[in-house]
Amino acid sequence: MKILITEKIATDSVQYLKDRGFEVDERLGLSQAEIEKIVEPYDGLIVRSVTKVNKELLANANNMKVVGRAGNGIDNIDVKACTEKGIIAVNTPEANIMAAGELAVGLAFAVFRNICYANESSRRDDFRRALMIGNELEGKTAGIIGLGRIGSIVARKLKGIGMDVIAYDPYITSEKFERVGAKKCQTLDDLLTVSDLITFHTPKTKETYNMLDADGLKKCKKGVRIVNAARGGLVNEEALAEALKSGQVAAAGIDVFDKEPSYDKLPGEQNFSHPLLELPNFVCTPHLGASSHEANHNVGTAVTELVAKALEGELVAAINMPSCSGNMAILKPYASLCEKLGRIYFQAEKAPVKKIQVCYCGELAGQETGVLTLSVLKGFLSSMTPERISFVNVRQAVEERGIEVVESKTTHIDRYNNLVSVSFFTEDGRELNVSGTVFGLGTEVLVSFFGYQMNFELAPIVIAMQNEDVPGIIGKVASMLGELDINIGSMHWGRKPGSGKAQSFIAIDQPVPEPSVEEFMKIPRVLRFTQLDFS
Ligand code: NAD
Ligand code: MLT
Repeated sequence: MKILITEKIATDSVQYLKDRGFEVDERLGLSQAEIEKIVEPYDGLIVRSVTKVNKELLANANNMKVVGRAGNGIDNIDVKACTEKGIIAVNTPEANIMAAGELAVGLAFAVFRNICYANESSRRDDFRRALMIGNELEGKTAGIIGLGRIGSIVARKLKGIGMDVIAYDPYITSEKFERVGAKKCQTLDDLLTVSDLITFHTPKTKETYNMLDADGLKKCKKGVRIVNAARGGLVNEEALAEALKSGQVAAAGIDVFDKEPSYDKLPGEQNFSHPLLELPNFVCTPHLGASSHEANHNVGTAVTELVAKALEGELVAAINMPSCSGNMAILKPYASLCEKLGRIYFQAEKAPVKKIQVCYCGELAGQETGVLTLSVLKGFLSSMTPERISFVNVRQAVEERGIEVVESKTTHIDRYNNLVSVSFFTEDGRELNVSGTVFGLGTEVLVSFFGYQMNFELAPIVIAMQNEDVPGIIGKVASMLGELDINIGSMHWGRKPGSGKAQSFIAIDQPVPEPSVEEFMKIPRVLRFTQLDFS
């Protein structure tokens, strides 16, 4: 499978993908239009913050299965468009927060103590320190906008250097403010009017874009310092330039522009100019928040592992999947079982289904089982539709087909620790049930199939045969398989009391060729002969 990487990630992470057998193309510094042209054959795409994974790019990404955002913010990823195409979107929200928080604090020091201006002047042979006098941070008020992961780190560090920390974040609980030790501001204005330092740590959304504009800047204390190491455009750049010129803002440290330059081109290769870059009291870093060796390593490792696992069909925590707060160690083996239980239906039966009911019994009932239901649905649709179905769009795809999905749970269970029971309600009024469990470290066992009780360890290729419950049939089937040189791995048969029918499951090492299947169907008293593919 092919993976395209359009922005720099740690070299050892790229190697990790190659070692895992992926064909990896690192094509750095391409324009958006160039990426759109080459994206078609790729199964996976890894980007940072510059590449826009939007509808236009995805329109050509017809093989794409996963998009990995090597970093935190997802404003450059159209998650809805990914979902519509069944593409899993993953990011690495925790991997670079320390680096980003530290850079914000570094910028705060720079703008309070004129560090960058002093450095540039000294290099120009101008050592007049009287022109470089700054202010101390200790005892001043730091206003944090957005008290999430990074905002909280910044709060802790600024408190550590003796600042009074206040914060504005209407979306978190008062308890979180208390835990972080930041005084809660009820409104943005409450923060603007008293802060000596304002530092931004929100995502870029419709609501936060230009949230500090010319009017807001006027409300600030004269001589306020501003830091933005979150996303470009949270502070209106034009208004900020005016406020820096007038002295309303003493200095600003910005890591991110609204429209970003390329971070890979050589000097002179791009004509990036900006009025802010002309101002002496403006400090700029080139979206450097995540650029520590530690964060590079963490982000690279996290994103390549997620992308590799997603491409290998493993369950990963994706942005466009229901959140899974359950215990993954318990859920993972059941996800694989559930997909197989879903796959059984259309391999064994043809009647249209109007409702699927999944019941989780035993310890599983205490888990968040949303992803298990998605696994059942993914398996169910896999043999029914050629469309690209993944965890992210499967529920929508099932519901679009008019099939109702119901989940239920019970802690009550007789014979096993856990059981997943899937009932398919057909349009012609039947309820067909398959149930299974997982033993030990991942042995998947089918315990009931369309009313027959059994204990059959699932294998990649399985013959499911229904016949009249009379002697001699199994022997006949076994000898025909022998004639085809097909080895039998295991065999199990069950009866439905009073029905006069028996159901057998035979694990075989390779599939019965299609023409020979007809011959098995012709065996007298064989009622059904189906090959189930769980490979
Ligand atoms: P987070 O989701 O943990 O926290 C964001 C906080 O902002 C949340 O608590 C949310 O409630 C709050 N918020 C949302 N809308 C708000 C509003 N209108 N007013 C006030 N608060 C609001 O995110 P995070 O991981 O802390 O990241 C914060 C920002 O830093 C993001 O924009 C992210 O993209 C950016 N980031 C930048 C770099 C960099 O290299 N410069 C690195 C990592 C993250
Ligand atoms: C992020 O959101 O993780 C940062 O902006 C870092 C980056 O993409 O380089």
